[in-house]
Amino acid sequence: MISPLARRLRTAAVGCGSLALTLAGLVAAAPAGSAAAPADTATQYPNYAPTPPMGWNDWSYYQCNIDENTILGNARALVSSGLAAKGYDTVTTDDCWMTRSRDSSGNLVSDPVKFPHGMDYVGAQLHAMGLKFGIYEDAGTTTCGGYPGSLDHWQQDADLFAKWSVDYVKLDGCNVPTKPGETDEQSYHDTYSAWSQAMLNTGRPMVFSVSAPAYFQDGPDWDKVIGWSAQVGNLWREGADVALGQESPAAKWSSLKYNYAYNVDLADLQSPGRWNDPDFLLAGDSGLTRDEIQSQMSLWSVMAAPLISSTDLTHLSADALAVLGNRDVIAVDQDPKGLQGRIVQQGDGYDVLSKPLANGDRAVALFNKSDSAQTISTSAATAGFGHGSSFVLKDLVTKHVTRTTGTIAADVPPHANVLYRVSAGGDVSVPPATTVTWKDVSTADHPGTYTVGLTDLGPTGLSDTSVSLTAPAGWTVTPASVRLNRVAPGKTATAKVTLTAPEAAPGTTVSTITATAHYVAGPAGRDSVSGPLTITTVVPYPTLADAFNNVGATLESDTAPGNLDGDSNSYSADALAAAGATPGATITANGLTFTWPTAAPGTPDNVETGGQVVELTGQGDALAFLGTETGFTSGQVVVTYTDGTTSTGTLGFPNWCCSTTTDYGAQTVLTMDHRNTPAGPANFGVSYRVFSNTVPLTAGKTVRTVTLPNQPAIHVFALAVKP
Ligand code: GLA
Repeated sequence: MISPLARRLRTAAVGCGSLALTLAGLVAAAPAGSAAAPADTATQYPNYAPTPPMGWNDWSYYQCNIDENTILGNARALVSSGLAAKGYDTVTTDDCWMTRSRDSSGNLVSDPVKFPHGMDYVGAQLHAMGLKFGIYEDAGTTTCGGYPGSLDHWQQDADLFAKWSVDYVKLDGCNVPTKPGETDEQSYHDTYSAWSQAMLNTGRPMVFSVSAPAYFQDGPDWDKVIGWSAQVGNLWREGADVALGQESPAAKWSSLKYNYAYNVDLADLQSPGRWNDPDFLLAGDSGLTRDEIQSQMSLWSVMAAPLISSTDLTHLSADALAVLGNRDVIAVDQDPKGLQGRIVQQGDGYDVLSKPLANGDRAVALFNKSDSAQTISTSAATAGFGHGSSFVLKDLVTKHVTRTTGTIAADVPPHANVLYRVSAGGDVSVPPATTVTWKDVSTADHPGTYTVGLTDLGPTGLSDTSVSLTAPAGWTVTPASVRLNRVAPGKTATAKVTLTAPEAAPGTTVSTITATAHYVAGPAGRDSVSGPLTITTVVPYPTLADAFNNVGATLESDTAPGNLDGDSNSYSADALAAAGATPGATITANGLTFTWPTAAPGTPDNVETGGQVVELTGQGDALAFLGTETGFTSGQVVVTYTDGTTSTGTLGFPNWCCSTTTDYGAQTVLTMDHRNTPAGPANFGVSYRVFSNTVPLTAGKTVRTVTLPNQPAIHVFALAVKP
C-alpha cells in the first residue's frame, strides 16, 4: 500500500495492513545486490500506449482475495457490460497471484489454489475474450503483499511474462533495496531501467506501468523519478493509493480529491504516450454518490489519466455503468492530442480545468470541490480560446448543448463536475447557455430569504420565463413558482423566495432546494436550466456516543471483525478487556481520565471524524481525546464556548498499529499484541495501541461544543475536559 508516507515507512520498517505483510516479506528476504548489467538508460521505451490505458484491475476492491473466478468473472462482465468495446480492454491481476517462493529454477509460480490452471491459462482466456492480459510484479525483494519480488530476476521474469503472452506489466516498487554507494533514487533507476531493458529484450510489446515515482511522492527526487519513468515506461503511479473498496464513503471521497490534487499539478511531466497515473476509478464501489463517481471519471479524463476500474463489475450499478461507459467522456480521455488538462482558474472551493483536444475543441471541467452547490463561471479566453464571440458548450453528461458569447458557467452540485466540450462557433438554432444563481438575502427579520437569478450567457434573449422550486419533504418554499421578466443577453432576472426548514435531528443534515427556470430562447425554442442550493444544518450531538459511527472493537469469536482501518480489521475486544478497556470502564492514563465506550463489542464505539459537533461542558486547561488514527494525518478541532467565542487545536494520533511514537504529542494509553482480522486474531510482530492527546482550552471559559476534525482516518473513543 502506498501512502504519502510510504517511503518513510519503508525505510523505518514499520507498517500496517498490507504493509504489515510487506514487512513479513522484508524480514524473510535478505536484501540482494543487483547483479544485472546496468540498462541502456538512453533507450526510450516504445510507445505501446498511444492513448491512456483502459481496463480493470482487482486491487482496490478485492486486494488479495482473488482467484481465477474473480479475474475471469470480472473479465466476462467487462465484455458483457459493453465496457470492453468502449476501450476498457486490459484486465490486470494485481498482487497476491503467486506462491510465497519461486520454484527450483527460480521462476515465479502461480498460486495453485487461487489459480489452479496457472496465470498463462488466465491470459489465454482473456485473449479468447478479446481482452489484454495484465500482471503485477514488484521491482524489489518482495511485492507490497510479501510475495517474491523480481530483484535479480528481471530477464527471467520478463521472459516468463512474454511466454505467458502478457500485454501489460504493472511493476510496483515496494522493498527496492538501496545499493551500497547509491541513493535510493539511483537504485530505483537502475532497477526500473533493467526491467525496461529486459522487457525490450523479450521482443514482445508489453505496456509498462512503473510505480517508482509513488515511492518518492513530494520528496526532492519526485520530478526526476517521473522524468525517467517516462523514459523507461509508458505510465507511472506517482502517488498514494486510492482508497480501498472497504473504506468509508468519506474516506473514498477524500482520497479521490487527494489523488486528483497531486496529479493535476504534474501536467508538465506528461507527454503524448507517457501518462501520469493517479490510480483506479472507484465507480461501482458502494457509498460514493453518482456526482462523486462522475467527478472522478470527468477529472481523470481531463487529466488524460489511465481509466482503470477497480470494482466488482459483476454487480455494477446502472449509475456506475453509465459513468464508466460515457463515450463522450472517454473520448476526452482518449483524445489523440494526448495532453493532460490543466487548472486554468481556481476559486473558493472550485477548480476549472481545460484540456486541448485534437480537433481544436477544449474539454472544460468545472469542479465543485466544496460541500455546497455553487455557480462556477469562467471564460472561453481563460479556457484557452483566442478571440471569438460564439462558442458551443456540450455538457458531456446530460448531452445538453448551449451557446455562449464567452462566459462558460454552470450550476454545479457539491462534489460534482460539469464537463463541457467547448467548440468555437454555433448559430441561433442552439439555445443560449444560462445559469440559475442563488443569493442568500436573509435578515434577522426574514430568515431563509433568497434571491434566485436567471442569467442569459448567450446572444439571444429569454422570454416567457418562470422559475419553479422543489424542496425536500417538510420544507416550505414561498412562492413555489414565479414568473420572471424577459432576460436580455448578458443580463439576469431575479425573484425572491423564502424557505423554512423542518426541525433537524442531531448531526449534519444536507438539504437541496432546486430552482428550475423555463423559458423560450428565440428561434431555438423552449429550454430550461436547474440550479441547486445546498443548505447544511448542524445540530450538535448531545454526547459523543450519539455520534458513534464506526465499529472499532470486536470479539475474537466474531467472523466480521469491523472495519476500523478500511481494511476490515479492528481492535480485539478480548485484548482491550485484558488491558482494562471493558464497556463503561474508567481509563486513567497520562494524567487524564476517560470512560471507555459502553457499546457492546461489534457495535459502533467510536467516531470516524467528519466534522461532527458534540455538546460538552466544563472548564479546564485542555480538552482530552482518547483515540487512534489509521492513515497518518492530523486535523483541526474547534472548541466553541458559552460566550460564542472559539479556540482551535490540532489533533493527531500515531497509527493504531505498529506505532510506538509520540507523533503529534500523543501518548500511549493501551497496548495490545494482536488485533482482529477477517482471518482471526493476528499479530504481525507489532503492537496495537490506543492513544491520548489534548488540545488547549481558553482559560476561564466554559466549553459548549466541540467540533471534531474532518479527517476520517482519525477515530475518537472518548472525550474529557482536563480540569
Ligand atoms: C501497492 C500499489 C497498489 C497495489 C498494492 C499491492 O500499494 O500501489 O496499487 O498494487 O501495492 O500490494
